[in-house]
Amino acid sequence: MTQIVFDDRAAQQLDAMYRTRDVVYRRRLVREALAPAIGQRVLDVGCGPGFCTAELLADVGPSGEVVGIDTSPAMLEAAARRCDGLGSVSFHLGDATQLPLQDYAFDRALCVQVLEFVLDVPAALRELYRVLRPGGRVLIWDVDWSTLSWHSANPARMRTMLSAWDRHLTHPALPRVLAPALRSAGFTDIRVEGHAFVTTALDPETYGGAALGNVQRYLGGLPELDQAEVQAWADEQRDLGSRGEYFYAVIQACFTATRPPTV
Ligand SMILES: C[S@@+](CC[C@H](N)C(=O)[O-])C[C@H]1O[C@@H](n2cnc3c(N)ncnc32)[C@H](O)[C@@H]1O
Repeated sequence: MTQIVFDDRAAQQLDAMYRTRDVVYRRRLVREALAPAIGQRVLDVGCGPGFCTAELLADVGPSGEVVGIDTSPAMLEAAARRCDGLGSVSFHLGDATQLPLQDYAFDRALCVQVLEFVLDVPAALRELYRVLRPGGRVLIWDVDWSTLSWHSANPARMRTMLSAWDRHLTHPALPRVLAPALRSAGFTDIRVEGHAFVTTALDPETYGGAALGNVQRYLGGLPELDQAEVQAWADEQRDLGSRGEYFYAVIQACFTATRPPTV
């Protein structure tokens, strides 16, 4: 296991990647599914560099509030800079499995591409449940990396690279088990929408186009991999891109659920 470390360098990389067209589109899907209203209190768990936090501040308006939590000081710094002067916002260093927050404090909570990195997912879901008010809604977004379809003329080499890439996180196929996990945590009205991110171009504005550099960087740090093979794999992808033969597709799952209202 060599999970990605969310340090200064990762914060800079996410800062660039989260401005790209597909990730901007993903945030639009998140905000539509979460549907926060003016005046509401929203919790962004694993807020990262704060792009979503900043947009949510506009959704809740000056009478609302957004709180961001992250385990990475570098991400929190970037998020605080991004959200400075945008409204009522605060950031706290904290873990999804032990939120430094009071019970019943939020109308909405979201956790976008975070739980796939968290060892104890049931504990994180219990915490989200605890801090939501009765009737409050949660949104969990994660990638099902087992659906990744990435074209190569050398499928065996691609399999080696993708099984190494699976080690960048804790749960490569978390969406498969999220519905029962949400139910066990007490949530009801569990819904899911799958979103396919598909590209046929090595275009950095797309999720699949940006993936090549990110995955190559990660694989380049794994001493157990033959680095000449990693380079040959990346070179092939760039060749496919220049010939108009690139193909990358992955399904990302957006779950929403409700903490039942008290009767
Ligand atoms: C892929 S980024 C997603 C950032 C943000 N949710 C977004 O979509 O813009 C994952 C973030 O989760 C944070 N994270 C990882 N494990 C965490 C944990 N146990 N508790 C809170 N945050 C965590 C990382 O530091 C990183 O900022």
